[in-house]
Amino acid sequence: MKIALGSDHGGFELKAKVIEHLRSTEHELEDLGAFDSTSVDYPDFGAAVGRAVADGGADVGIAICGSGIGIAIAANKIAGVRAATVHDVTSARLCKEHNDANVLCLGERFLGIQVALDSVDAYLSATFAGGRHARRVEKIDHLDSE
Ligand code: RB5
Repeated sequence: MKIALGSDHGGFELKAKVIEHLRSTEHELEDLGAFDSTSVDYPDFGAAVGRAVADGGADVGIAICGSGIGIAIAANKIAGVRAATVHDVTSARLCKEHNDANVLCLGERFLGIQVALDSVDAYLSATFAGGRHARRVEKIDHLDSE
């Protein structure tokens, strides 16, 4: 899969660790910044990751800020994006299985490194369950055109 990654300064260190972790896999990575820990605005990076996924340049995104909240709110403003803030391996797996989340959002200030990396792995290896969940995801997608 092609994965677009982005963070603000609050997620910069965890993004670097996620990239290091994923480099040993077959996934293709695109780092959309931030490229250092200088203070920046998370909406810019949430939107960049969201746009990369929405326009087909990436299959999925990983967006990281201090809490995982602001960057998810920003990414979700891009039509076609379903960004989910997760806090553990189970929510990371379920956001793919039930919600077909196409952007995984993490909070560097809330997650231990191992939980964060395990959550990334759980998300990337999970599969959308379809069935009744497909109808619900379609309803979410229709909200983009309201
Ligand atoms: C930046 O200080 C912080 O507000 C940001 O990383 C994020 O937590 C916002 O939701």
